[in-house]
Amino acid sequence: MAIKKKHINDFISLNNKKTKSSKPKQNRIYFQIVLINSTFATYLYKNMSFLKEIQRRRTFGIISHPDAGKTTLTEKLLLFGGAIQEAGAVKNNKIKKGATSDFMEIERQRGISVSTSVLAFNYNDKKINILDTPGHKDFAEDTFRTLTAVDSVIVVIDVAKGVEEQTEKLVAVCRMRNIPMIVFINKLDREGKDAFDLMDEVEQKLGLTVTPLSFPIGMGYDFQGIYNLWEQNINLFSGDSRKNIEETIAFSDVQNNPELDKIVGQKAAQKLREELELIDEVYPKFDRQDYLDGKLQPVFFGSALNNFGVRELLDCFVAIAPSPRPKDSETRLVDPTEEKMSGFVFKIHANMDPKHRDRLAFIKIVSGTFERNKPYYHVRQKKNLKFSSPNAFFAEKKEIVDISYPGDIVGLHDTGNFKIGDTLTEGELMSFKGIPSFSPEHFRYINNADPMKAKQLDKGIDQLMDEGVAQLFTLEMNNRKIIGTVGALQYEVIQYRLEHEYGAKCTYENFPVHKACWVKPNDPKSEEFKEFKRIKQKFLAHDKYGQLVFLADSDFTIQMTQSKYPNVKLFFTSEFE
Ligand code: G4P
Repeated sequence: MAIKKKHINDFISLNNKKTKSSKPKQNRIYFQIVLINSTFATYLYKNMSFLKEIQRRRTFGIISHPDAGKTTLTEKLLLFGGAIQEAGAVKNNKIKKGATSDFMEIERQRGISVSTSVLAFNYNDKKINILDTPGHKDFAEDTFRTLTAVDSVIVVIDVAKGVEEQTEKLVAVCRMRNIPMIVFINKLDREGKDAFDLMDEVEQKLGLTVTPLSFPIGMGYDFQGIYNLWEQNINLFSGDSRKNIEETIAFSDVQNNPELDKIVGQKAAQKLREELELIDEVYPKFDRQDYLDGKLQPVFFGSALNNFGVRELLDCFVAIAPSPRPKDSETRLVDPTEEKMSGFVFKIHANMDPKHRDRLAFIKIVSGTFERNKPYYHVRQKKNLKFSSPNAFFAEKKEIVDISYPGDIVGLHDTGNFKIGDTLTEGELMSFKGIPSFSPEHFRYINNADPMKAKQLDKGIDQLMDEGVAQLFTLEMNNRKIIGTVGALQYEVIQYRLEHEYGAKCTYENFPVHKACWVKPNDPKSEEFKEFKRIKQKFLAHDKYGQLVFLADSDFTIQMTQSKYPNVKLFFTSEFE
């Protein structure tokens, strides 16, 4: 139950009544009122602190094209939060370029990404949860799912390379969900594109509406610092890289203050004045509500490596970024302030040690408090589960935690109960929306290479699909299994893990599919749908949840099919209602 104004009014009116009850015969009533009052005060106090806990949480993800500086920025943010003591403590969790066949690299990645899946720290009384998003494009699906668990994102862009392909894809997903975004333009210590050209590029390629909240004074060799429009000050770049040194000068009236010329030189001062004038004319004023609604994206400039512009970014982030937001379920909108716990699984991580088959399911708390040893209802499996050692994450450590709040991520040890997208509640039959599958880009038949291990193969495939490593489609016609992935790397990961964790062997065979389209007929009994099923029989399959999928070999086929069967709708994601 969320705190309502009525409760507070009741509380106040009870207090007023208390002062009137002075006669001895009213003592009994008086004590009853005191009792009710103190119970209510405890309730109110508990709820106030619950609300405070929600409001101080900031759960977000950093997205970028590989090499733009996501890892470096994450590390600098952790340094500010005092969560780590020195640079280099956050291990780089990206797969090295060209390492597609290096299984040790895959294993290394899996190991490291458990510890960096969630990085939590406190800063200015705020609890910050950074959710890691793999940069490698073959793991894009993982990143898409993680984006269902964030309340906002920071987009990192390399000043020299501008907007790159992976950033475009990820921002498109954020835009679809109206996730508030802040843009950080990184590597200002290097020569790069003109700041205005870059902001144009961001608007055009990413479809955003930006407004700068900081602006560089010079760039590369001439980089002198940043004018912070948000805080109205100048941060001078010391050039003493990798040390946390910078000079901040409060500076409000840039246009008329002659001090600016003394600080940055006449030429740079003149240029900055012109640029700020242009910003004033061309870009919208920052409006927090527009940012929260996903309609306006503030831009910061800096150099993560030199720890420059990062504090400004963090200070603004904690001030404007949203605390946990309501989330849509299939039946209703769930508010974080609701008393009853609810949450959903957005990531499953297999144990690194093949001898222990248990996994870690990452659950985002949407409402209420998640308590250790309390039974929660697993909606899909229709059963109660208790968790004696839920993990919370702090910097790069994980520890057992008794209570977690909305916005927090809890890691639950799992022996095969969870699938990605599962919902936990306190009994309510409700499932959260928003973990759709996207059409994979590669498709291959999977064959059993060791007939004695058929069971192991089936179990392995099943569990790996639950983890979201890839998607499984079963052909309607002959029950043959097809694995769909975002990148070719996953086939090697699956083959390797089937062998090392399940003792099963597999081979692949090409299957020429361009896209998987989820099928929804307007009328399942119509002649049109029956004909569609008969004609397309060879290309129809079921996904893991039993939904009908049409495996199309080209965009042309999709177009032709749509025009021939207008009442049979085709969708490129599994969630379309
Ligand atoms: P990613 O997670 O987005 O993939 O990027 P990451 O932080 O690993 O950074 C990619 C490369 O860019 C790294 O160099 C990193 O040091 C560098 N970098 C990050 N921020 C800045 C910056 O502000 N200025 C400059 N000049 N470089 C920056 P690397 O040589 O690939 O790795 P390393 O040997 O430095 O670790």
